[in-house]
Amino acid sequence: MPIDWTQYSLAELRRHSTTVFRQGGGSRPDVMLIEINGEKAVLKDQSGADRVFAALIGPILNWRETSALRKLTASDAVPNLLAVPNKRAFLMSYHESRQITKLVDQAIDWKDFFDLLEKRIREIHKLGIAHNDLRNPTNTLVTPQGQPVLVDLVAYFSRGARWNFVKHWLFNKFCQVDLSAITKMKMRFAPELVTEQDVHPEAIAGRSGMAARSVGQWIRKISKSLLTSRKTREKD
Ligand SMILES: Nc1ncnc2c1ncn2[C@@H]1O[C@H](COP(=O)(O)OP(=O)(O)OP(=O)(O)O)[C@@H](O)[C@H]1O
Ligand SMILES: [Mg+2]
Repeated sequence: MPIDWTQYSLAELRRHSTTVFRQGGGSRPDVMLIEINGEKAVLKDQSGADRVFAALIGPILNWRETSALRKLTASDAVPNLLAVPNKRAFLMSYHESRQITKLVDQAIDWKDFFDLLEKRIREIHKLGIAHNDLRNPTNTLVTPQGQPVLVDLVAYFSRGARWNFVKHWLFNKFCQVDLSAITKMKMRFAPELVTEQDVHPEAIAGRSGMAARSVGQWIRKISKSLLTSRKTREKD
């Protein structure tokens, strides 16, 4: 029978950590592989960030990311939410993969990969979520079968109610920014696949679209400057 991950406390989960994907510190959470009885899951724990940041911002970031994963339960593009052991941490399904920038000796059919990546990104847009941090390549993972998995939905933007035209307009801009991330990755890994249909950031309603994309990054930077110690900032 598969494990019921909801029965474990945060301390128990952390005791079963076998790999650290990302060491917390500054404004960053701990991201670690958890293994229990041969099953694997990934814990993202905001309490790994600096104390003040974790206390004040950690619950907001955790709530944002778990909300996005709940809205995307029907999608294969992102991990499944498995458990929320407390307000600063959540557990998600593990996907054997590498960051797209760290593929070594893996032969990838880039045409198939980018077709599927676009399909998956459009799929989450249909479900009302723009990822909004895909231009950071560490958030696109590649499985051994050459399939994309999208992680780190903390900066997501949702479509909002039908009557909310401003939110809809912004949502469409953020969707375009997601699509421009594909162009960016193509230019880096398979420039021969870039076509005229690909979305370029300059084409996204001029400055407003890119300004919208930066909001999440701003929040993170400002909170980091205000709430973390200089020593940790230098390390981060
Ligand atoms: N569900 C998952 N399955 C496999 N690996 C994962 C999963 N979630 C995260 N990772 C690994 O952990 C890394 C960091 O995760 P994530 O991007 O969510 O955290 P982060 O705090 O934003 O880190 P970074 O700033 O490095 O992007 C990912 O790039 C990936 O290598
Ligand atoms: Mg990330």
